[in-house]
Amino acid sequence: MRAEEISAWVNEAKEACASAKDLDSLKSVRTAHVGDKAPISLASRALGSMSAEDKVVFGKLIGEAKASISEFIMGATKKLEAQRDQKILLEEVVDVTLPLNRRHRGGLHPITIIKNEISDFFIEQGFAVEEGPELESGWLNFDALNIPADHPARTMQDTFFIEPVESGMVLRTHTSPVQVRTMLTQEPPIYVVCPGRTFRADELDATHSPVFHQVEGLVIDKGITMAHLKGVLDNFARHMFGPNVTTRLRPSFFPFTEPSAEVDVFFNNRWIEWGGCGMVNPKVLATCGINSEIYSGFAFGMGLERTLMVRHSITDMHDIVEGDIRFTRQFGVGL
Ligand code: DAH
Repeated sequence: MRAEEISAWVNEAKEACASAKDLDSLKSVRTAHVGDKAPISLASRALGSMSAEDKVVFGKLIGEAKASISEFIMGATKKLEAQRDQKILLEEVVDVTLPLNRRHRGGLHPITIIKNEISDFFIEQGFAVEEGPELESGWLNFDALNIPADHPARTMQDTFFIEPVESGMVLRTHTSPVQVRTMLTQEPPIYVVCPGRTFRADELDATHSPVFHQVEGLVIDKGITMAHLKGVLDNFARHMFGPNVTTRLRPSFFPFTEPSAEVDVFFNNRWIEWGGCGMVNPKVLATCGINSEIYSGFAFGMGLERTLMVRHSITDMHDIVEGDIRFTRQFGVGL
């Protein structure tokens, strides 16, 4: 072993440290120059077999060499770590001035939200939700509901008739045909609500739309009276308009109910017409094959647009129909 060799190892380590490009390559430098098989380590181990004199001389040289090499490695580590940190700062910089991705999450239309709200309310009480087709037979939309062709009630509802007229098909003018469909296919007891889209030949204006929505309620069971109807309507009204709301029934006429009534709600300090209701006409029960000696029932029907407009003080139907998100967003996402 010669002193020159030892200082050559030190120089080599110094150069290797200086030329390491990154922390990974510095790792190999460390293995090569201070690892188990590095010349300096082998020399260190060889000290044991030297004479006492040499041991003193070389022990000192090797010790100093090791210290120098460690220093080079430490210096290089610090330098390369600083370089790495600098690089990360540059590469991972966030430009807070970039424009945001301003796409909004979609949401349900307020009519859909209120429809779901009503369905959920009735489902909680054991009602089922029934739906029927929007393109309906005139028989189900009118005749089965005791509205014969020449009945004045038929002209109350301006109907979209479907061509060819002989098909007898109409765009349903109310959700009441779903009552008939339900009674024709299910045995009492029946507890259903039927929300859906309805159509009448009206011009779109502040309070009318040719396409609108209703929800129908129907209960058929033994011993059902108008008191049950009033109780259900009161609960329904409180759920929709608030805990202090009351309802009143005003005598009215619908061919499919007898007796019939208009339902008003007392909301925002005034009585507001909300919908129609009554005890299902025994004629309708008979048409649907239900024995009115055993069963009785009630029905009601409300407009969803009207419910929404009253509750939220919406004064123009256009707002509901047009689907401008500046309007719909105020009702939340509704998911
Ligand atoms: N079908 C009626 C309409 O469209 C609303 C209605 C009234 C529904 C009385 C009913 C009812 O179920 O019992 O104007």
